[in-house]
Amino acid sequence: MTHAFLPEDRITAHGKAFEAELSRVIDKVDPAGLYAPASYILAGKGKRFRPHLVLAAQEMFGGSREVALKAAAAVEVFHIFTLVHDDIMDKSPTRRGRDTIHIKWDEPTAILTGDYLLGKTVELLLAYPDDKLRAALRFFTDTVRKLCEGQVRDMTFEARDDVTLEEYLVMIDQKTSALLECSLVLGGMTGNATPKHLETLEHIGHHLGRAFQIQDDLLDVVADSAQWGKPVGGDLMAAKKTWMLLSALESEDASSGWFRAMAERGGALPDEIPEARKRMEALGVVESARKAVIFHSETAVRLLDSLPAGGGQDILIALTRKMQARLY
Ligand code: IPE
Ligand code: IPE
Ligand code: MG
Ligand code: MG
Ligand code: MG
Repeated sequence: MTHAFLPEDRITAHGKAFEAELSRVIDKVDPAGLYAPASYILAGKGKRFRPHLVLAAQEMFGGSREVALKAAAAVEVFHIFTLVHDDIMDKSPTRRGRDTIHIKWDEPTAILTGDYLLGKTVELLLAYPDDKLRAALRFFTDTVRKLCEGQVRDMTFEARDDVTLEEYLVMIDQKTSALLECSLVLGGMTGNATPKHLETLEHIGHHLGRAFQIQDDLLDVVADSAQWGKPVGGDLMAAKKTWMLLSALESEDASSGWFRAMAERGGALPDEIPEARKRMEALGVVESARKAVIFHSETAVRLLDSLPAGGGQDILIALTRKMQARLY
Protein backbone atom coordinates (compact mmCIF):
# COMPACT_ATOMS: atom_id res chain seq x y z
CA MET A 1 0.00 0.00 0.00
CA THR A 2 1.33 3.43 -0.87
CA HIS A 3 1.02 6.38 1.48
CA ALA A 4 -0.49 9.64 0.37
CA PHE A 5 2.06 12.42 -0.10
CA LEU A 6 1.61 14.99 2.64
CA PRO A 7 3.24 18.37 2.12
CA GLU A 8 3.33 18.85 5.90
CA ASP A 9 5.48 15.72 6.28
CA ARG A 10 7.85 16.91 3.57
CA ILE A 11 8.13 20.33 5.23
CA THR A 12 9.00 18.63 8.54
CA ALA A 13 11.61 16.46 6.79
CA HIS A 14 13.10 19.51 5.07
CA GLY A 15 13.23 21.32 8.41
CA LYS A 16 15.12 18.45 10.07
CA ALA A 17 17.64 18.09 7.26
CA PHE A 18 18.14 21.85 7.23
CA GLU A 19 18.78 22.14 10.99
CA ALA A 20 21.38 19.37 10.74
CA GLU A 21 23.09 21.27 7.90
CA LEU A 22 22.99 24.59 9.76
CA SER A 23 24.42 23.05 12.91
CA ARG A 24 27.54 22.14 10.89
CA VAL A 25 28.14 25.64 9.55
CA ILE A 26 30.30 26.87 12.43
CA ASP A 27 32.93 24.36 13.41
CA LYS A 28 35.34 26.60 15.34
CA VAL A 29 35.37 28.13 18.82
CA ASP A 30 38.58 30.15 18.90
CA PRO A 31 38.68 33.15 18.99
CA ALA A 32 35.55 33.18 21.15
CA GLY A 33 35.05 36.90 20.47
CA LEU A 34 33.93 35.87 16.98
CA TYR A 35 32.60 32.31 17.22
CA ALA A 36 30.60 32.75 20.44
CA PRO A 37 28.34 35.49 19.01
CA ALA A 38 28.19 33.75 15.62
CA SER A 39 27.08 30.44 17.20
CA TYR A 40 24.69 32.30 19.52
CA ILE A 41 22.92 34.05 16.65
CA LEU A 42 22.69 30.90 14.52
CA ALA A 43 21.10 29.04 17.45
CA GLY A 44 18.19 31.54 17.69
CA LYS A 45 14.80 30.22 16.64
CA GLY A 46 13.76 31.62 13.26
CA LYS A 47 10.91 30.59 11.00
CA ARG A 48 13.36 29.28 8.36
CA PHE A 49 11.06 30.52 5.64
CA ARG A 50 13.86 31.15 3.14
CA PRO A 51 15.56 27.73 3.48
CA HIS A 52 12.16 26.06 3.08
CA LEU A 53 11.73 27.96 -0.20
CA VAL A 54 15.09 26.69 -1.47
CA LEU A 55 14.27 23.08 -0.61
CA ALA A 56 10.76 23.21 -2.07
CA ALA A 57 12.12 24.63 -5.37
CA GLN A 58 14.82 21.94 -5.41
CA GLU A 59 12.13 19.29 -5.02
CA MET A 60 10.08 20.85 -7.81
CA PHE A 61 12.95 20.68 -10.30
CA GLY A 62 14.55 17.42 -9.20
CA GLY A 63 17.77 19.09 -8.15
CA SER A 64 20.62 17.89 -6.00
CA ARG A 65 19.53 17.73 -2.36
CA GLU A 66 23.12 18.08 -1.21
CA VAL A 67 23.65 21.35 -3.09
CA ALA A 68 20.19 22.62 -2.06
CA LEU A 69 20.96 22.09 1.63
CA LYS A 70 24.11 24.18 1.27
CA ALA A 71 22.14 26.84 -0.62
CA ALA A 72 19.44 26.73 2.09
CA ALA A 73 22.11 27.24 4.75
CA ALA A 74 23.57 30.06 2.64
CA VAL A 75 20.29 32.02 2.42
CA GLU A 76 19.60 31.60 6.16
CA VAL A 77 23.13 32.60 7.14
CA PHE A 78 22.89 35.61 4.84
CA HIS A 79 19.45 36.47 6.27
CA ILE A 80 20.88 36.29 9.81
CA PHE A 81 23.75 38.54 8.72
CA THR A 82 21.24 41.15 7.50
CA LEU A 83 19.36 40.88 10.81
CA VAL A 84 22.52 41.40 12.89
CA HIS A 85 23.37 44.59 11.01
CA ASP A 86 19.72 45.66 10.75
CA ASP A 87 19.39 45.47 14.53
CA ILE A 88 22.34 47.82 14.92
CA MET A 89 20.81 50.24 12.39
CA ASP A 90 17.37 50.00 14.03
CA LYS A 91 18.78 50.03 17.58
CA SER A 92 16.73 46.89 18.32
CA PRO A 93 17.39 45.25 21.69
CA THR A 94 15.80 41.86 20.95
CA ARG A 95 15.76 39.41 18.06
CA ARG A 96 14.17 35.98 17.99
CA GLY A 97 13.19 36.48 21.63
CA ARG A 98 16.74 37.08 22.84
CA ASP A 99 19.20 39.93 23.27
CA THR A 100 20.71 41.16 19.99
CA ILE A 101 24.48 40.76 19.58
CA HIS A 102 25.19 44.46 19.99
CA ILE A 103 23.37 44.37 23.35
CA LYS A 104 24.75 41.06 24.64
CA TRP A 105 28.25 41.93 23.39
CA ASP A 106 28.84 45.29 21.70
CA GLU A 107 28.54 47.01 18.31
CA PRO A 108 32.02 46.18 16.98
CA THR A 109 31.34 42.50 17.79
CA ALA A 110 28.01 42.64 15.95
CA ILE A 111 29.57 44.31 12.89
CA LEU A 112 32.35 41.75 12.71
CA THR A 113 30.04 38.77 13.27
CA GLY A 114 27.96 40.04 10.36
CA ASP A 115 31.04 40.32 8.12
CA TYR A 116 32.00 36.77 8.99
CA LEU A 117 28.51 35.47 8.18
CA LEU A 118 28.55 37.21 4.79
CA GLY A 119 31.80 35.42 3.94
CA LYS A 120 30.29 32.14 5.14
CA THR A 121 27.38 32.65 2.76
CA VAL A 122 29.67 32.76 -0.26
CA GLU A 123 31.60 29.74 1.02
CA LEU A 124 28.34 27.74 1.23
CA LEU A 125 27.33 28.79 -2.28
CA LEU A 126 30.56 27.32 -3.63
CA ALA A 127 28.75 23.97 -3.40
CA TYR A 128 27.13 24.64 -6.81
CA PRO A 129 28.72 22.66 -9.64
CA ASP A 130 30.95 24.61 -12.02
CA ASP A 131 28.28 24.90 -14.72
CA LYS A 132 25.87 26.60 -12.28
CA LEU A 133 28.19 28.43 -9.91
CA ARG A 134 28.62 31.65 -11.86
CA ALA A 135 24.87 32.11 -12.35
CA ALA A 136 24.18 31.33 -8.68
CA LEU A 137 26.80 33.83 -7.46
CA ARG A 138 25.62 36.45 -9.94
CA PHE A 139 22.03 36.14 -8.70
CA PHE A 140 23.20 36.28 -5.10
CA THR A 141 25.40 39.38 -5.49
CA ASP A 142 22.54 41.15 -7.24
CA THR A 143 20.37 40.27 -4.24
CA VAL A 144 22.96 41.76 -1.86
CA ARG A 145 22.86 45.00 -3.83
CA LYS A 146 19.06 45.12 -3.74
CA LEU A 147 18.99 44.50 0.00
CA CYS A 148 21.44 47.33 0.65
CA GLU A 149 19.39 49.66 -1.58
CA GLY A 150 16.21 48.64 0.26
CA GLN A 151 17.77 49.15 3.66
CA VAL A 152 19.01 52.64 2.81
CA ARG A 153 15.57 53.58 1.47
CA ASP A 154 14.01 52.27 4.69
CA MET A 155 16.38 54.38 6.81
CA THR A 156 15.97 57.58 4.81
CA PHE A 157 12.18 57.18 5.00
CA GLU A 158 12.43 57.58 8.80
CA ALA A 159 13.45 61.23 8.46
CA ARG A 160 10.84 62.04 5.79
CA ASP A 161 7.18 62.88 6.30
CA ASP A 162 6.06 62.57 2.66
CA VAL A 163 6.76 58.90 1.91
CA THR A 164 4.12 57.34 -0.33
CA LEU A 165 2.84 53.76 -0.33
CA GLU A 166 4.35 53.35 -3.82
CA GLU A 167 7.80 54.27 -2.48
CA TYR A 168 7.25 51.87 0.39
CA LEU A 169 6.54 49.04 -2.07
CA VAL A 170 9.79 49.72 -3.97
CA MET A 171 11.60 49.59 -0.62
CA ILE A 172 10.12 46.26 0.52
CA ASP A 173 10.61 44.72 -2.92
CA GLN A 174 14.31 45.26 -2.26
CA LYS A 175 14.73 44.71 1.46
CA THR A 176 12.45 41.67 1.74
CA SER A 177 11.23 40.22 -1.58
CA ALA A 178 14.70 40.10 -3.16
CA LEU A 179 15.92 37.40 -0.76
CA LEU A 180 12.76 35.32 -1.15
CA GLU A 181 13.20 35.54 -4.94
CA CYS A 182 16.83 34.52 -4.54
CA SER A 183 15.89 31.55 -2.34
CA LEU A 184 13.46 30.17 -4.92
CA VAL A 185 15.82 30.78 -7.84
CA LEU A 186 18.78 29.16 -6.04
CA GLY A 187 16.55 26.15 -5.33
CA GLY A 188 15.47 25.94 -8.98
CA MET A 189 19.10 26.23 -10.12
CA THR A 190 20.01 23.03 -8.28
CA GLY A 191 17.83 21.18 -10.78
CA ASN A 192 16.57 21.45 -14.34
CA ALA A 193 14.64 24.73 -14.11
CA THR A 194 14.67 26.59 -17.45
CA PRO A 195 15.26 30.37 -17.65
CA LYS A 196 11.48 30.74 -18.01
CA HIS A 197 10.92 28.67 -14.85
CA LEU A 198 13.49 30.76 -12.96
CA GLU A 199 11.67 33.91 -14.07
CA THR A 200 8.39 32.54 -12.72
CA LEU A 201 10.07 31.57 -9.43
CA GLU A 202 11.35 35.14 -9.18
CA HIS A 203 7.87 36.48 -9.79
CA ILE A 204 6.45 34.20 -7.10
CA GLY A 205 9.14 35.38 -4.65
CA HIS A 206 8.16 38.96 -5.41
CA HIS A 207 4.56 38.40 -4.33
CA LEU A 208 5.54 36.22 -1.37
CA GLY A 209 7.86 39.00 -0.23
CA ARG A 210 5.16 41.64 -0.39
CA ALA A 211 2.76 39.40 1.53
CA PHE A 212 5.47 38.56 4.04
CA GLN A 213 6.58 42.15 4.74
CA ILE A 214 3.06 43.61 4.92
CA GLN A 215 2.25 40.78 7.35
CA ASP A 216 5.40 41.66 9.35
CA ASP A 217 4.30 45.30 9.52
CA LEU A 218 0.79 44.22 10.55
CA LEU A 219 2.10 41.89 13.26
CA ASP A 220 4.16 44.74 14.73
CA VAL A 221 0.78 46.19 15.69
CA VAL A 222 -1.28 43.08 16.47
CA ALA A 223 1.14 40.26 17.45
CA ASP A 224 1.35 38.47 20.75
CA SER A 225 4.55 39.80 22.35
CA ALA A 226 5.89 36.51 23.76
CA GLN A 227 5.76 34.63 20.44
CA TRP A 228 6.68 37.62 18.27
CA GLY A 229 10.21 37.79 19.70
CA LYS A 230 10.47 41.53 19.09
CA PRO A 231 8.79 44.34 21.06
CA VAL A 232 5.17 44.79 19.85
CA GLY A 233 4.71 48.33 18.55
CA GLY A 234 8.45 48.72 17.97
CA ASP A 235 7.86 50.20 14.50
CA LEU A 236 5.28 52.66 15.87
CA MET A 237 7.60 53.78 18.64
CA ALA A 238 10.25 54.52 16.02
CA ALA A 239 7.67 56.05 13.64
CA LYS A 240 8.88 53.63 10.95
CA LYS A 241 7.18 54.18 7.62
CA THR A 242 5.50 50.80 7.49
CA TRP A 243 2.45 49.79 5.50
CA MET A 244 0.46 50.37 8.70
CA LEU A 245 1.63 53.90 9.44
CA LEU A 246 1.57 55.06 5.80
CA SER A 247 -1.98 53.71 5.35
CA ALA A 248 -3.09 55.34 8.61
CA LEU A 249 -1.60 58.67 7.52
CA GLU A 250 -3.37 58.35 4.16
CA SER A 251 -6.75 57.53 5.63
CA GLU A 252 -6.97 59.59 8.81
CA ASP A 253 -8.93 62.81 8.91
CA ALA A 254 -6.41 65.55 8.17
CA SER A 255 -8.00 67.79 10.83
CA SER A 256 -7.47 65.40 13.76
CA GLY A 257 -4.23 63.85 12.44
CA TRP A 258 -3.41 61.64 15.45
CA PHE A 259 -0.86 59.60 13.48
CA ARG A 260 0.59 62.69 11.81
CA ALA A 261 1.18 64.28 15.24
CA MET A 262 2.65 61.03 16.57
CA ALA A 263 5.03 60.72 13.60
CA GLU A 264 6.11 64.36 13.97
CA ARG A 265 6.97 63.72 17.64
CA GLY A 266 9.28 60.91 16.43
CA GLY A 267 7.08 57.97 17.37
CA ALA A 268 4.53 56.62 19.82
CA LEU A 269 5.21 56.20 23.55
CA PRO A 270 4.94 52.62 24.84
CA ASP A 271 1.62 53.39 26.58
CA GLU A 272 0.17 54.80 23.33
CA ILE A 273 0.49 51.47 21.47
CA PRO A 274 -2.96 50.12 22.48
CA GLU A 275 -4.58 53.37 21.33
CA ALA A 276 -2.65 53.31 18.04
CA ARG A 277 -3.92 49.79 17.44
CA LYS A 278 -7.54 50.79 18.17
CA ARG A 279 -7.26 53.76 15.83
CA MET A 280 -5.78 51.59 13.07
CA GLU A 281 -8.62 49.14 13.47
CA ALA A 282 -11.18 51.98 13.30
CA LEU A 283 -9.53 53.45 10.18
CA GLY A 284 -9.69 50.05 8.44
CA VAL A 285 -5.90 49.86 8.18
CA VAL A 286 -5.70 46.45 9.90
CA GLU A 287 -8.31 45.09 7.52
CA SER A 288 -6.64 46.54 4.42
CA ALA A 289 -3.26 45.07 5.45
CA ARG A 290 -4.89 41.64 5.87
CA LYS A 291 -6.43 42.00 2.40
CA ALA A 292 -3.10 42.95 0.84
CA VAL A 293 -1.44 39.91 2.45
CA ILE A 294 -4.14 37.63 1.05
CA PHE A 295 -3.96 39.22 -2.41
CA HIS A 296 -0.19 38.73 -2.75
CA SER A 297 -0.24 35.21 -1.25
CA GLU A 298 -2.99 34.11 -3.61
CA THR A 299 -1.21 35.67 -6.59
CA ALA A 300 1.86 33.60 -5.66
CA VAL A 301 -0.26 30.44 -5.47
CA ARG A 302 -1.79 31.20 -8.88
CA LEU A 303 1.65 31.66 -10.46
CA LEU A 304 2.70 28.30 -9.06
CA ASP A 305 0.17 26.73 -11.42
CA SER A 306 2.46 27.38 -14.37
CA LEU A 307 5.31 25.38 -12.78
CA PRO A 308 5.68 21.58 -12.84
CA ALA A 309 2.97 19.94 -10.73
CA GLY A 310 3.94 17.58 -7.96
CA GLY A 311 5.44 17.51 -4.50
CA GLY A 312 7.45 20.73 -4.70
CA GLN A 313 4.41 22.66 -5.87
CA ASP A 314 2.25 21.31 -3.03
CA ILE A 315 4.94 22.22 -0.51
CA LEU A 316 5.16 25.79 -1.84
CA ILE A 317 1.38 26.17 -1.65
CA ALA A 318 1.40 24.87 1.94
CA LEU A 319 4.29 27.21 2.87
CA THR A 320 2.45 30.19 1.35
CA ARG A 321 -0.76 29.44 3.26
CA LYS A 322 1.20 28.92 6.49
CA MET A 323 2.91 32.27 6.03
CA GLN A 324 -0.40 33.97 5.31
CA ALA A 325 -1.88 32.60 8.56
CA ARG A 326 1.13 33.24 10.77
CA LEU A 327 0.61 35.07 14.04
CA TYR A 328 4.27 35.75 14.81
C1 IPE B 1 12.66 39.30 9.58
O1 IPE B 1 12.53 38.12 8.87
C2 IPE B 1 13.04 40.41 8.64
C3 IPE B 1 12.01 40.73 7.66
C4 IPE B 1 12.29 40.82 6.41
C5 IPE B 1 10.65 40.99 8.10
P1 IPE B 1 11.77 36.87 9.48
O2 IPE B 1 10.45 37.30 10.02
O3 IPE B 1 11.78 35.77 8.49
O4 IPE B 1 12.67 36.50 10.72
P2 IPE B 1 13.03 35.08 11.33
O5 IPE B 1 13.99 34.46 10.37
O6 IPE B 1 11.77 34.27 11.49
O7 IPE B 1 13.65 35.43 12.65
C1 IPE C 1 14.63 43.96 8.07
O1 IPE C 1 13.59 44.83 8.03
C2 IPE C 1 14.98 43.57 6.68
C3 IPE C 1 16.37 43.20 6.55
C4 IPE C 1 17.13 42.79 7.53
C5 IPE C 1 16.96 43.30 5.24
P1 IPE C 1 12.98 45.33 9.39
O2 IPE C 1 13.90 46.25 10.10
O3 IPE C 1 11.61 45.80 9.14
O4 IPE C 1 12.90 43.94 10.15
P2 IPE C 1 12.62 43.69 11.67
O5 IPE C 1 11.27 44.28 11.96
O6 IPE C 1 13.74 44.34 12.42
O7 IPE C 1 12.62 42.18 11.80
MG1 MG D 1 15.28 47.74 9.50
MG1 MG E 1 14.69 46.04 12.08
MG1 MG F 1 9.66 45.04 10.71
